[in-house]
Amino acid sequence: MKRVFSGIQPTGDLHIGNYLGAIRNWVKIGEQIGKDAIFCIVDYHAITIPHDRELLGRLTFDAALANMAAGLDPNKIVLFAQSHVPEHLELGWVFSTQTPLGELERMTQFKDKSEQHSVLAGLLMYPVLQAADILLYKADTVPVGEDQIQHIELTREIARRFNAKFSPENPVFPEPKASIDKSAARVPGLDNSGKMSKSKNNTLELLEPQAALWDKIRVAPTDPARVRRNDPGTPEKCVIFSYHKLFSNLDTIQEVDVGCRTAGIGCIDCKKLLMVGLMETLEPIQARAAHFQAHPHEVTDALVAGAEHCQKIARETMLEVRDAIGLLRPNSIRPVIQ
Ligand code: TYM
Repeated sequence: MKRVFSGIQPTGDLHIGNYLGAIRNWVKIGEQIGKDAIFCIVDYHAITIPHDRELLGRLTFDAALANMAAGLDPNKIVLFAQSHVPEHLELGWVFSTQTPLGELERMTQFKDKSEQHSVLAGLLMYPVLQAADILLYKADTVPVGEDQIQHIELTREIARRFNAKFSPENPVFPEPKASIDKSAARVPGLDNSGKMSKSKNNTLELLEPQAALWDKIRVAPTDPARVRRNDPGTPEKCVIFSYHKLFSNLDTIQEVDVGCRTAGIGCIDCKKLLMVGLMETLEPIQARAAHFQAHPHEVTDALVAGAEHCQKIARETMLEVRDAIGLLRPNSIRPVIQ
């Protein structure tokens, strides 16, 4: 793990799927490799579906704030906004000219999103820009949740193809690998219908007040077999039990496991126990968020410093890329016509 890159969209409040599936690992990696851990709020990705111009800037700031509250320390790692380093788009364009349309049409996230929204050309190009994000920094490791694996595989393919065609002797790009935390690769949504996701409206948000979280958890479906208080259930069928495994200590997990199977505890008691573990994780995050809300310059300063740091790396990579594909250098010392 030499250089790590990952990104998150500023599409609304971050949820516990983002935290457990990705950000928590980013924090750990940052402790190990410092400034070679680069994390990005991908605002250009966010406009591949219709967006609100009044909100985009605010959401980008909020996403940075939430990441810092979740433990990313910009003094240790690098945090920035994608649009502050325009080379992402430049490399994205180069990659788009080298990527067969069929590969993009096969992406499952593209297929899902194009069912929900009208298809903009940028939505199809989404994974090409993602490959540019990663390869601009020559990252070898990309910590993400399971839903991003296909995009990282395409990134590898794009790197491989570029190297083979334009720099066979001295490859410009590494072939990065996804790094997945198996314990939370795909955090289920509160409705137990699959992945927790903002677009499915089934999230528990990192910065949501305790009372609001409880309102959602209280009414969340559990094992349908538990109609009455004394009907026994199967924990594996209940999303609340999945959350216990993510937030509660071993004793509590054991207690609710047995309690559910024997109808020893009711679903509401089980949910109250979940709130304890959940708030143990979220309270420090929410306290840090309150600090940054009171000191917004700490967030904007971090983004400015992050963009400066990334700009330097991005410029160097683009010099290599432009040479590799044979563009005329401005102020070229290389004779063009011999
Ligand atoms: P995004 O913004 O959808 O999600 C950010 C990260 O959170 C993970 N995640 C989850 N993990 C487990 N369970 C869930 N329910 C869950 N929901 C989300 C995602 O896997 C992701 O790691 N395309 C990316 C953003 C991106 C990017 C990049 C990522 C743009 N460029 C370069 C890595 C490298 C996305 O939409 O993430």
